[in-house]
Parts: sequence; C-alpha cells; structure tokens
Amino acid sequence: MNIGVIGSGNIGATAARLFAAAGHRVAISNSRGPETLAGLIEEIGPGVRAASVDEAAEFGEVVMEAIPFGQYESLPADKLSGKVFITASNYYPGRDGEVEHGGLASSELIQNHLPGARVVKAFNATYFVRLRDNGRPDAPVEEREVVLLSGDDEEANRIVSGLIEDIGFAPVDVGTLAESRRQEPGSPAYNVAMRPAEAREMLAGMG
Ligand SMILES: NC(=O)c1ccc[n+]([C@@H]2O[C@H](COP(=O)([O-])OP(=O)(O)OC[C@H]3O[C@@H](n4cnc5c(N)ncnc54)[C@H](OP(=O)(O)O)[C@@H]3O)[C@@H](O)[C@H]2O)c1
Repeated sequence: MNIGVIGSGNIGATAARLFAAAGHRVAISNSRGPETLAGLIEEIGPGVRAASVDEAAEFGEVVMEAIPFGQYESLPADKLSGKVFITASNYYPGRDGEVEHGGLASSELIQNHLPGARVVKAFNATYFVRLRDNGRPDAPVEEREVVLLSGDDEEANRIVSGLIEDIGFAPVDVGTLAESRRQEPGSPAYNVAMRPAEAREMLAGMG
C-alpha cells in the first residue's frame, strides 16, 4: 500500500520505518521540506522517500499525520479528500496553545477540517518507544500489544486495523470519532501497554 506520513518526529519516523519494514511504500514529510529528511531516508532504507506535505498527501492511499495538534489547520484538505486519514496527534494545551474544541473530540475537529477525508484516530495512545520495540508480527493477534483506533467509517477502520496488524500490533476499536476521547490523554486507556482482552475490558468499563 502507498502510505503518506506527515510529521517525521518520534511517532512519524517510527511509523514510517515500521510500515516500510512491513513491505509498504512510504512518502514522509515534515514542516521544513524534503531536503531535511535525507538522513532519515538513508537510515530507514528501501521503501521510504522524502516528500513535501502535499506530495505525501497525494501519494498515500492512507495518509497519517503525526504533528503537534495545534498545527492541524495546516493539513491540506483538498489533497486529503477521499483518503483514509490517520490522526495520531494529541492535544496538549501547554504545547499546542488553547484550541477551542466546542465540546468535540480532537479527531472531530480534524474531521471538520478535512471534510472529504475518512478520518481514523490511531497510534496516538502508544508511546513511540513501545511502537518501535514491541511489534510482534509472528505472534497471534490476541497475544500482541494493543494499538487503539476509532472512527466513523467502517472500511477505513478496517484498512487501518490491517496496517496495525502488519506491523505486529493488535487493533482494538474504541468506537466513533466522538468516542475517541476514550483514547485521548486523561483517559485510563491512554498510553497503557495492554493485550486486547484487557483493553476491551477496560473500554467496556468506561460505558
Ligand atoms: N512521542 C510519542 O510517543 C507520541 C505517541 C503518540 C502520539 N504522539 C503525538 O503525535 C504528534 C507528534 O509527536 P512526536 O513526538 O512525533 O513529535 P515531534 O518528534 O516533535 O515531531 C513532530 C513532527 O511534526 C512536524 N511538523 C510540525 N508542524 C508541522 C506542519 N504544520 N506540517 C508538517 N509537519 C509538521 C515536525 O516537522 P519539523 O521536524 O520539520 O519541525 C516534526 O517532524 C503529537 O501530536 C503527539 O502528541 C506522540
């Protein structure tokens, strides 16, 4: 699959590396331009190339953002229309400044900014070191560590779940975008290493 990645920091670079290792083709971008990504591209090796944000958005059948949430309005809505779009960012007011949510989850603000995109919130609740180190593609899914996801488009959820499995994790569906606050900072499920059974039990306990 062709995957565009927007953001080349801890989580974007880690995901790009894992997607490429699983046999996908990745175009990764950041705020400073493709020429600043030469070292990362060389380090990851085959399967990954440097791109501008627009190029990464156009390249991906699936596009993932891993940027500070406060920057979300810079995501190119026209280029992302029709795409399965993974939002991995978290809202931290101390880093992102005050962003008025109007009672919506962060992923819903992103969906409103990208009306044509098929938004799935995923990877936001997994510390990048665990993402980097804990994938076990050869293990049965029920024995793997969980990556939580949520979204309103069932097919998009299925595609993202497949990618999560490709890199050795177990996808667990948290619910709709409105329910994605259950995987946001402040939730008991946020950034916890869990097996799927444990995650489902915790989510059921949240009502
Ligand atoms: N760190 C984690 O373990 C983790 C886990 C899950 C989710 N998250 C969330 O994922 C997001 C990224 O976290 P991180 O730790 O990977 O951050 P990071 O290491 O600081 O990297 C942020 C990346 O975003 C890029 N960027 C910033 N503004 C951009 C814009 N407007 N357009 C395109 N690229 C832009 C930066 O580009 P430049 O390098 O060119 O500035 C940088 O490559 C955050 O929202 C964070 O809360 C983090």
